Amino acid sequence: MKINISKAAQFVAAGSIEAYEPQVKAAQEALEQGTCPGNDFLGWMHLPSSITPEFIAEINETAKVLKENCEAVVVAGIGGSYLGARMVIDALSNTFGWLQPSDCPRILFAGNNIGEDYLSELIGYLKGVKFGVINISKSGTTTETAITFRLLKRMCEEQRGKEEAKKVIVAITDAKKGAARTTADKEGYKSFIIPDNVGGRFSVLTPVGLLPIAVAGLDIAALVKGAQDMEAQCGLDVPFAENPAAVYAATRNAIYQSGKKIEIMANYQPKLHNLGEWWKQLYGESEGKDGKGIFPASVDLTTDLHSMGQWIQDGERTIFETVISVETPNTSLAVPSDEENLDGLNFLAGKRIDEVNKMAELGTQLAHVDGGVPNIKISIEKLDEYNIGQLIYFFEKGCGISGLILGVNPFDQPGVEAYKKNMFALLNKPGYEAESKAIQERLK
Ligand code: PA5
Repeated sequence: MKINISKAAQFVAAGSIEAYEPQVKAAQEALEQGTCPGNDFLGWMHLPSSITPEFIAEINETAKVLKENCEAVVVAGIGGSYLGARMVIDALSNTFGWLQPSDCPRILFAGNNIGEDYLSELIGYLKGVKFGVINISKSGTTTETAITFRLLKRMCEEQRGKEEAKKVIVAITDAKKGAARTTADKEGYKSFIIPDNVGGRFSVLTPVGLLPIAVAGLDIAALVKGAQDMEAQCGLDVPFAENPAAVYAATRNAIYQSGKKIEIMANYQPKLHNLGEWWKQLYGESEGKDGKGIFPASVDLTTDLHSMGQWIQDGERTIFETVISVETPNTSLAVPSDEENLDGLNFLAGKRIDEVNKMAELGTQLAHVDGGVPNIKISIEKLDEYNIGQLIYFFEKGCGISGLILGVNPFDQPGVEAYKKNMFALLNKPGYEAESKAIQERLK
């Protein structure tokens, strides 16, 4: 993985990125020594290097049971309890693979919304499918996930019988507390623990991400190896200019201070759409607090050049762009030659599709830079487990450093509670009587 900031540095005063070096060092030391705000959530810092082959084998063993017994596995979880798995699975699976026979179950995601039609349609689909469930919730009480799991548990038991259903329901939750833990223990489900000191959005390298990824048939050992190597590459002992997380954190803070408040993550591979979703949660939930924080947005290019391209090129100049570039595709396909050339495309005949895509990427980068959009380029060699593992740790470490430079606690999310309080009051949840009364007054 490489980071190139040459087309971002030109937008800020000379030396202003390097000027962050002392702050980056202080942030890294605070993360390392556990002296920063949110220091009870630093378990992600050395998580990759602490993962043992035995732990990977245990995850793979459980994945094997689900693979052997299920045509589909529903991952029930929301936010940090699903986005990491979804991002990795989408990036590394055949986009149309679910339409073909496969040795691995189809992975479906639910518990991340309260859409009645979505859930009804899911249930309708599952009626004819032997399915299992991975129920993921750190708190074990998240409403979206809990409602979904209640529906799926009942359906799975009806489909297979209670005892057989227990073999294909796995819980990933807190060691002791929460309804998901109580249910798992009472029903005797196989369960994995989400460590106390790893927050949801930093949890993809725990069973939260690793189990669904393994069920999808992907190599979790290679994913972890990529993260381990990146952990070393972003260590405290690595000089600033050679530490990609340090450079990324400093660059985005320098650009933010220059008045650009929105960071758009752009990819040129449709398979990376959910990398943007995962990254938005990681950075948005970590930095958006105390009236501060870069707003993380994402686009899929070239698709969105035909929808958002105008805004990016020419709208309010408050944005910068972080592009994820994949150097080499895993397949090979060229534009065919055509004798009649009715579409006038013979000038591209014989060229790899990826070459056309790369020229679109380069052309867009130059146009956006001309249009006043600073550009950070992050390149990976190819889409595989190792490279995605590298990206995961790089973005996590960059986020920790960046949030501390910004002066916020990157590891809490107090703002997420506001909607829940109102929703529970409106739904008359026991314990919310005072809030219910107050909200009814407001609605009069
Ligand atoms: O990052 C976070 O902490 C959140 O996004 C949580 O992951 C999300 O709210 C789901 O919470 P839980 O795992 O407790 O169901």
